[in-house]
Order: sequence, then structure tokens, then C-alpha cells
Amino acid sequence: MKDRRRFSLWGLAALLLSGLAIATPPTAKRGSSQFVQTDGASFIVNGSKFRYVGTNAYWLPVLNTEQDIWNTLGNISAIGAKVVRLWAFNDVTTTPSDGTWFQLVQNGKVSINDGPNGLQKLDTVIQMAEQHGLYVIMTLTNNWYPTASNSTGSSLQARGGTTEITLPRNYLSNDYGGMDLYVRQFGLQYHDQFYTDEKVVKAFQNFTSQVVTRYVNSPAVFSWELANDPRCSSTLSMSGSCTTETITQWHATMAAYIRSIDPNHLISSGNQGYMCTDCAKLYPLNPAPAPQPSPAPGSKKRSVPVSSEQILRKRAESRRLNRRAAKLAGKLKEDGIRVRGRWAATATRRQQSQEVGTAYDGSYGVDSQDILNIPDISFGTFQLFPDQDTYAASDPSLSSYQNMVNSGVDWITNQAQSAAAVGKPLIMTAFGLVTQSNAADFVPFNMTTAPYATNTSSDVTIQKRDTTYGVTNQEQTDAYSTWLSTSVSLNLAGMIQYQWGQESLTAETGTTISPGVTGITPSSDSTGTSQSNDTTGVSPNDGYSSNSNADGILPVMSNTASNIASD
Ligand SMILES: *[C@@H]1O[C@H](CO)[C@@H](O)[C@H](O)[C@H]1NC(C)=O
Ligand SMILES: *[C@@H]1O[C@H](CO)[C@@H](O)[C@H](O)[C@H]1NC(C)=O
Ligand SMILES: *[C@@H]1O[C@H](CO)[C@@H](O)[C@H](O)[C@H]1NC(C)=O
Ligand SMILES: *[C@@H]1O[C@H](CO)[C@@H](O)[C@H](O)[C@H]1NC(C)=O
Ligand SMILES: *[C@@H]1O[C@H](CO)[C@@H](O)[C@H](O)[C@H]1NC(C)=O
Repeated sequence: MKDRRRFSLWGLAALLLSGLAIATPPTAKRGSSQFVQTDGASFIVNGSKFRYVGTNAYWLPVLNTEQDIWNTLGNISAIGAKVVRLWAFNDVTTTPSDGTWFQLVQNGKVSINDGPNGLQKLDTVIQMAEQHGLYVIMTLTNNWYPTASNSTGSSLQARGGTTEITLPRNYLSNDYGGMDLYVRQFGLQYHDQFYTDEKVVKAFQNFTSQVVTRYVNSPAVFSWELANDPRCSSTLSMSGSCTTETITQWHATMAAYIRSIDPNHLISSGNQGYMCTDCAKLYPLNPAPAPQPSPAPGSKKRSVPVSSEQILRKRAESRRLNRRAAKLAGKLKEDGIRVRGRWAATATRRQQSQEVGTAYDGSYGVDSQDILNIPDISFGTFQLFPDQDTYAASDPSLSSYQNMVNSGVDWITNQAQSAAAVGKPLIMTAFGLVTQSNAADFVPFNMTTAPYATNTSSDVTIQKRDTTYGVTNQEQTDAYSTWLSTSVSLNLAGMIQYQWGQESLTAETGTTISPGVTGITPSSDSTGTSQSNDTTGVSPNDGYSSNSNADGILPVMSNTASNIASD
């Protein structure tokens, strides 16, 4: 009796162990897998290091024909990109008559569309990506969703469907569903209830499990990205109780959930990289080992996390150097400095802020380092959007353009230091600058209208273009060049541009690719009004589309891709 019972306990243990062996990544064969894995700060595929340039094309599954998907992926692959980041979600609140959708979320109930205009579109994208030698980063939801009032005070739902907005559904990045759609359809009030309400978490896990298990054996999936830009607030405001710990805890719960159903793929956050230098951590870094008198050659030096003191010290130091350089160049007068040919009398009296700023103080509810140190999070993510975020204090001895480029370099540098302290790979999941020719299409992620389109008419075929906002194409190219070379030299494992622009797509009325949506083609007549009666369409543009005719960023990406491939 006793013996038999012990035997059965052993049997149970063996069963549990074999279960574990299936559920954990195959560490014994680490590096030889055709699934992307990590090794310290690097990615490994088939036993080789994998470092890449990529692009964002969140809209790929909503294209109208397979030929369009095939051509777009072919064009992306042709510049040497290896990874495409896209939306693996597409939520609606009523069943639309046209176009792609993946999940209906309605009054607290969810259902998946796995038909030809549903997840089968995603199947096609992944299959064709694989045929073009591309990996896909699969983003599972979005922080942004238009639920606020528009400028005329009326309430917005999604475009298409029951709304007064006549732009086609899915035209912009913040109109594919997302967190606030769940919150509203579950009868809740605050954005951060997405992270904490049990029913919503269950519903999101339900969607996640259906997508993840569908592609669990696909080597083309680079990673499961939990959310685009997760934060405490969105167009719905946050409750009083959302902190960085709320969002870190949600990541830990979701990453463990995905790991329990998918032993094969990497898992990443998708946050914008905001740090919180002084926040309490749920996943504190282990204390760094005491320095060795003579470290073995090649032994890894563990970096320190980014601190407020370091940020403020570095800023003061670079201001001092910039001022000295300006003085040497004869551009500095005692009572002021020359800014773009004009004298500014602010130099001596300016007060330097002792605040680290919103990118570092946790005010968005994101502590990227704490998230990165969650065991089931495989690598770090951050974004770089100087049009929408302030990463560093401006130095009055420099032009606003130079300040902007420098702030990007500073941001990338601090991200690299933070990820090195954790010891995981780091990728820039999106970076972009708005040019003058893209300004009219620029829709900040937190908004539903284009603030630099001077004509706010909902007739998208007639759009006046305001070209006073944005950098020149050359400035954009130079900035991308600087940021990419900084990222390469700081050993980032991947750099993903925002966003791919594709022309000559098949247009269908009522779908994302609608006839007459002018998007990336900056064709203006003499009055600044652009018109198009095309029956072909262009991909959605939030103000960042690459335009093969007009800018030099594709060659910059292409060169970077070939340089890192031959490393
Ligand atoms: C990895 O190996 C598999 C199987 O041989 C192959 O199909 C795949 O293309 C390889 N991937 C890379 C990135 O080399
Ligand atoms: C790029 O896209 C165009 C359609 O816009 C297509 O004709 C061409 O074949 C594509 N190029 C590649 C290399 O796939
Ligand atoms: C999960 O999704 C399925 C299919 O879409 C749906 O039928 C089911 O009710 C969902 N379960 C929960 C708990 O929401
Ligand atoms: C959106 O972000 C921009 C910065 O990019 C800011 O100027 C603007 O006030 C924000 N709008 C809303 C509605 O939060
Ligand atoms: C588009 O069509 C309108 C009316 O049919 C016409 O007035 C206009 O000139 C056309 N625009 C272009 C660019 O062909």
C-alpha cells in the first residue's frame, strides 16, 4: 500500500516534470532553434547572431488583396529589412459590412472572426512574410483608441459603423480597437481598468490565447508584443490608483500567461521606454557583483541603471561643452548666444531645471526597466518620437533641430544603459520624425484629427496642406542616419522605422484602402489643395510614411541593414 502510493507519487512527479519539459523553452538546445531566442544582449536564430533593421506596417492585414500583401512585403524585404511590426488585433463593436476585423467586443461579450476577412488575413500575412524571409512582431492590443470628443464636441466612436466620422475605419493607427474599446464595452470608466478589471483581463487573455495558439509553431513570429504604448491613460482618463506597479504587474501576468501556452516565441512589452528613476520596483535588479581586481578577459561588465543624478549631471556637462564650443566658434556673446543667426539674451540668466522630466519620472505609469526585468519578458523595447515627446532639456546654445537630434541620441544612449543593466537585448520598436510633406497627415497617437491639415473637412479627397510644420526631407534623413549609427554602435539588436508607406494598393470603398485617400502622395496644386480621383489607394499615414519618391531614408535603412549583416 505504502509502496504503491510512493510509486504513484513518483509517477505524478515524472508526469509533472515531462509537462514542464514541454512548457519551458528548450534551453539544452539553446541557439540551434529556428525560433528566435536570446543570448545575453543578442538574438540567436539557427545558432547565429541575428541583428536587424525593420519597419512598421500595422495595416498589413487590412489590405484588400493578397497581391497587395505580397508586393508590400516584397518591397520591405528588398531594402534589406528583416522584421515587420504589425497589429495582430482588430477589434470592432458592431460587425462591419466591409473590411477586415478580428474580434467583436460588444456589451461584455467577445467573439473571434476567423473567416476570410478575419484571422485568415493574418494567416496570409505571416505565411507571405515567411516566404519573403521576414519575421513579424505581433502586437496584441493598443493603448490608443478614439473615444473622446472631437473639436465640435460630438462624441466619437470608431470610424465607419455608427459614427459621424466619414474617414474609413482602420485608416489611422489608433482606430483598430484597443484598450479603451474593451473598457467601454465592459461598462467601465477608466483606461487603466483594462489592466486590473478581472473580466477585461480574461477577455484579453481569451483573444491572446486564440491568436497565440494559432501561430505557436510558426518560426516567422519574432515576438508577441503585449501592447503598443501601454500607459495609465489614453483618450479615457486614468483612475486615481494607476501606478508604474499596475502596469508592470499586468505585464508579468500576461507574459506568464503567454509563456504557459507558447514555449517557442519571445515575449516583449511594446512600451515607449519611459523610465522611472526613483520608483519602487516589483522586479529589482540583483545587486551588481563586487568589482573583481582583474576581471577575466571577455567577462561581461554589468552596467548600472540610469539614475536621476546621472541624467542631470550629463545634461549640465553637455551644456557646458556646447557653450564652450559656441564661444570658440565666436558664436557666443557675453550677454547672449547666437541662435540660427540671431542673438538670444538668455544664456547667462537661464535657470536649469532640476527635474528629470516626464520621460524619466514615471508620470505615464511606465517603468521600462522594471518591466524588462520580469523573467518572462525576453527583450527591451522603446520608441523615439521627438514630435510627440520631450526626452531632454533644450540647450539654448543649439538650434531646435540640433537639440532634437541630440535628445534622440541621449534617449537611445540611456535606453542602452538601462537594458545592459538588466542584461537582455534591446530594440527600438519605432522611430520617426514628421517632415513638411507629411505634416498634413500627422495625427499624434493621442488625437483623432490631424492638427496641421488646415482643412478639417471630413472629405479626405480635398485636403489643404500646411507645410509650416515639420523638418525638411534632408533633416529627416540626417537625423535617422545619426540615430541608426548611434543604435548600431551601442549594440542595439534591432531598429524598426515608423512607418512603411506603400502606394498603388487596391482600393475598395468602405475599407482602409479607400479610393481617393491621398495619404503619402504629396501632390498639391498651386492653392495647396491636393486632390486625387485615383482608384488605387495608399497605406495609412500618421505623418511618418516613408515616401520612396521624396526622401532618402530608405537608402539609410538599407545601408544600415547591410552593415550590421556583415558584422
Ligand atoms: C533557420 O533554419 C530553418 C531550417 O533549416 C530555415 O528554414 C530558416 O530559413 C533558417 N532561418 C534563418 C534566419 O537562417
Ligand atoms: C514592389 O511593389 C510593386 C507594387 O507597388 C510591385 O510591382 C513590385 O513587384 C514590388 N517589388 C518587389 C521586389 O516585390
Ligand atoms: C472566448 O472567446 C470565445 C470565442 O470567441 C467565446 O465564445 C467565449 O465566450 C470567450 N470566453 C470568455 C470567457 O470570454
Ligand atoms: C497629444 O500630445 C501632444 C504632444 O505630442 C500634445 O501637445 C497634446 O496636447 C496632446 N493632446 C491630447 C488631447 O492629449
Ligand atoms: C477629380 O474629379 C473632379 C470632379 O469629377 C474634377 O473636378 C477634378 O478636376 C478631378 N481631379 C483630378 C486631380 O483629376
